[in-house]
Amino acid sequence: MPASSILVIDDEALIRWSLSERLTEEGHAVVDAEDGTTALALVAEERPDLVLLDYQLPDMTGMDLLRDFRQRMPEVPVLLMTGHSSVERAVAAMREGAYHYVVKPLNLDELVLLVDKALETRRLRDEVRTLRASSSAPYDFSRIIGDSVPMQRVKRLMRKIAATRASTILLTGESGTGKDLAAKAIHYNSDRAARPFMNITCSAIQETLLESELFGHEAGAFTDARKRKRGLLEQADGGTVFLDEIGETAPSFQAKLLRFLEEKSFKRVGGAEDVKVDVRVIAATNRDLQAEVKAGRFREDLYYRLRVLPIELPTLRSRTGDVPILIHAFIDRFNEEFRKRIRGVSPATMDALVGYDWPGNIRELKNAVERAMLLADGDELGIEDFMMLLGATGGADDGFVLPESGIDLEAVEQDFVRQALARTGGNRTRAAKLLGISRDQMRYRVDKFGL
Ligand SMILES: Nc1ncnc2c1ncn2[C@@H]1O[C@H](COP(=O)(O)OP(=O)(O)OP(=O)(O)O)[C@@H](O)[C@H]1O
Ligand SMILES: [Mg+2]
Repeated sequence: MPASSILVIDDEALIRWSLSERLTEEGHAVVDAEDGTTALALVAEERPDLVLLDYQLPDMTGMDLLRDFRQRMPEVPVLLMTGHSSVERAVAAMREGAYHYVVKPLNLDELVLLVDKALETRRLRDEVRTLRASSSAPYDFSRIIGDSVPMQRVKRLMRKIAATRASTILLTGESGTGKDLAAKAIHYNSDRAARPFMNITCSAIQETLLESELFGHEAGAFTDARKRKRGLLEQADGGTVFLDEIGETAPSFQAKLLRFLEEKSFKRVGGAEDVKVDVRVIAATNRDLQAEVKAGRFREDLYYRLRVLPIELPTLRSRTGDVPILIHAFIDRFNEEFRKRIRGVSPATMDALVGYDWPGNIRELKNAVERAMLLADGDELGIEDFMMLLGATGGADDGFVLPESGIDLEAVEQDFVRQALARTGGNRTRAAKLLGISRDQMRYRVDKFGL
């Protein structure tokens, strides 16, 4: 096994010494630290390949350090050494992302095995990551399905932009058109692929927290800020930060973001120092930003900065020619996932699906295929498998789609009358209104069906 650098953190000199001895014998390079502060200074300079961490340290607990390490260098396995066989502590450590824990007194042979295994896992993971970063990656542009003219154009544009040095990209498009997918494809097909891709949904988090998530904060910046925290921008240095739902952010945040985009540097919350990073920002929104600007909800200057390189993802209804390939691609995917053997959809169903207007775009289509496949009995999907979709939102102009297998009109009528009565608590006048018939017609049906 090639030499790896291992950081040993323990306040007991004897333990540091015996671990160093043994691990060096095994061919590893060992550095050690007697407390958390020293350890933090060490990892700030160079990343170890693995960390052996004592729980009880003079200046902080192993858990505090563990948390910090997971943020700072998530790929580095941390083995926690705990003095007491406290199950809760071990469980908590695993939950915080520890690779494993060992109980003192240490069994060095066991520990060496564990270290080797952790390093091996890490190497495999690195390999997978490099593979992912190469062209056969799951985020390859070929995973973005669609051959229609608008899709070809968008894919060409994405490919081109991914390869540039552009630091800011704006993705727009209705919900479900593939903005997330596009952001990842751009990152993993750029020369930043081996560096982190960090993403944050701006609307999911309160404004001040969003700032500290992105820019980080200094110790004491606010009540809960006990320690300095590196924000996503610092963590993603060399890589990409994806700011999803940018249209939902507050003006003060927008101002700070603009400053960063223009100056490539920022101050942590509560900090004075200028931090410089090299990060590509991909912002996305399903809102019409121009309208947001007009309404005074989005800063015009930021809008113009963002839209230097805009990519608009087309709606599915504007490229209905892609519906069949998307359906087949999702059928293949779910066949594998659900161990099913669906061959396709019937021609009439395909017509109906191509004609449907897909307000939820590809997400809706994907969910519809998934649901249909879970419910399907045969090896072909029919109208009845998509009934919820086509029945519920078919719209007034196309009405309900008649299933290929046909229906019993009288039974359907009876069913609707019963539903209308149930929904209105038996009020015939309102039930009649729901069905678009007169009270007399309602009375006639109630009698006929004996309701
Ligand atoms: N062109 C495509 N080919 C294959 N799958 C796609 C394509 N576009 C979107 N998808 C899939 O559809 C789903 C929705 O896409 P995504 O989450 O990227 O949409 P979004 O534009 O980010 O939506 P929202 O605005 O709601 O966040 C995902 O499961 C995604 O993998
Ligand atoms: Mg999204």
